[in-house]
Amino acid sequence: MKKNILIVLGLLALILPGLATAAGPGVKLDKADIDVTNTASLQRGAKYFVNYCMGCHSLKHARYSRLASDLGLNEAQVRDNLIFTRTEDGDKTAIGALMANAMRVKDGKEWFGTTPPDLTLVARARGEDWIYTFLRGFYLDPSRPFGVNNTAFDNVGMPHVLWELQGWQRLAEHGDSHTAPVFEQAESGRMTPAEYDQVVRDLVSFLSYVGEPRQTERKVIGFWVMLFLVVLFVVTYLLKKEYWRDVH
Ligand code: HEC
Repeated sequence: MKKNILIVLGLLALILPGLATAAGPGVKLDKADIDVTNTASLQRGAKYFVNYCMGCHSLKHARYSRLASDLGLNEAQVRDNLIFTRTEDGDKTAIGALMANAMRVKDGKEWFGTTPPDLTLVARARGEDWIYTFLRGFYLDPSRPFGVNNTAFDNVGMPHVLWELQGWQRLAEHGDSHTAPVFEQAESGRMTPAEYDQVVRDLVSFLSYVGEPRQTERKVIGFWVMLFLVVLFVVTYLLKKEYWRDVH
């Protein structure tokens, strides 16, 4: 009995620190409420990502060509709308290439105090709700190098790159792990809050897809497997009845 309790405590000790870092210090996460089967949303997310994020972040485990086939885009569309990087020789990056970017580790350290991390697996590491909360959580803070802080990521090294769309917000109330923080708009951006939320949702959908490109396929296969098991159950049940009829 004692041994069992020790094992359970040991397991908890392993799991709990992971949960704590995943949630960040005391922030209530907003529900991202995304749909990774929505191809239009994924296409928009990909477009926002290459325009607003790829200057700093790579997706080094993803290929443009895979993106093309999964998001229903042809090669020309990907080349014209999604590939903005160049190879060392100055040629446009090929469609078969990985979605790396040009920022060098040393530059990242110098400019932001830390290298912007690769984001291929960030949705799986942090969770979709966390990214959604993070991208909507930048607020003005003059004490920070870029003038912004973040409710989900205290003292973040990333500037508020979507400020043109969202505008600038001030933090009115901090909130904690149960109550969401309250923001007030200091300066409006090009979009309404609802439109901005949709942009963030598209980005989160895209990052979720990139983290596990086969997840839609997996869910479809799961459905057919469950259906198969149900049919199999009915057949075996009838078979059992048939076999036992003579016995009873
Ligand atoms: C100007 C450079 C820059 C741009 C552009 C940029 N980021 Fe960042 N981002 C950073 C840096 C630097 C960090 C690391 C912050 C830290 O560790 O303090 C970061 C961290 C993050 C993280 C947290 C990763 C983690 O798990 O710690 C996410 C998520 C993220 N960025 C998403 C985005 C998205 C989405 C975009 C595009 C809308 C974007 N970033 C654009 C510089 C950038």
